Amino acid sequence: MHRRSAAVFVLALSTSAACADDGIAERLAACAACHGAHGEGMRGTEYVPHLAGKPAGYLFEQLAGFRDGRRVNASMTWLVQFVDDDWLREIAAYYAALPPRSNAADTGAAQLTPERRARAERLVREGDHEHGVPACSACHGPDLAGVEPGIPATTGLPADYVVAQFGHWRNGSRRAREPDCMRDVARALSPEDIRAVATWLSQQPNATGLRPAAAGSVVPPVSCGALKVEATP
Ligand code: HEC
Ligand code: HEC
Repeated sequence: MHRRSAAVFVLALSTSAACADDGIAERLAACAACHGAHGEGMRGTEYVPHLAGKPAGYLFEQLAGFRDGRRVNASMTWLVQFVDDDWLREIAAYYAALPPRSNAADTGAAQLTPERRARAERLVREGDHEHGVPACSACHGPDLAGVEPGIPATTGLPADYVVAQFGHWRNGSRRAREPDCMRDVARALSPEDIRAVATWLSQQPNATGLRPAAAGSVVPPVSCGALKVEATP
């Protein structure tokens, strides 16, 4: 479908917008209903991720993934099913440029026992070499704020969302470019470890102001196709 009809499609979704400070924000009013007016997510939601400040290359790949069947979510797929690459790149660039922040993380999330907390922190900072799992921070950056152009922040995400994504990688319904290093991480961790690490991440302070690390400044210990995505639209 061509760009003009795609724009009309999203416009149709945004007609109920009361007001917006610029054209693109107005056109993305339909997105704000779930992801927040500034892509910051919604406090208290268990499932919707924030978008603000994530790398544009990453956001574009996810939007194209919902459209092309590499990610599965009925609402998301419905919204982007007829949208062309140019408009998706504009949307991705818009959210990437917003100040990185998140309201989406759990406030009253489940408590971890001291043992589970220590295990989660070890996975994040050191990994589990016995099971071939590198530290999360080896790829997501030392402050977990992500790495340009294709690796997102992992703090400020609701625990149930993170657990669900691990499930999607494990069963093949979420796929990134090969080599899909995150799929391999997800498949190497036990369900208990996934829940512990997701809970721990959801309780970390939001990375307010922390931008994703510059491209090339963090070199993952194994190759990730996600770092070969186009940098900026
Ligand atoms: C009905 C609620 C809803 C609406 C409206 C919505 N989203 Fe989403 N969005 C979600 C949910 C839920 C997910 C997580 C889906 C999953 O993978 O399980 C998501 C995921 C995403 C992701 C992937 C984020 C990441 O970190 O991987 C992007 C990007 C995104 N949405 C952008 C948009 C844009 C742009 C719009 C407007 C065109 C929009 N969304 C409208 C609910 C919504
Ligand atoms: C070898 C590198 C690597 C390691 C190690 C790694 N990740 Fe990832 N991660 C990635 C890449 C690349 C992506 C983006 C995949 C895509 O494009 O869908 C990603 C995406 C994610 C996402 C998706 C965020 C969103 O908004 O949807 C989460 C959550 C995540 N990783 C959590 C973790 C956790 C927790 C660990 C440690 C247990 C970890 N990752 C270890 C490379 C890695």
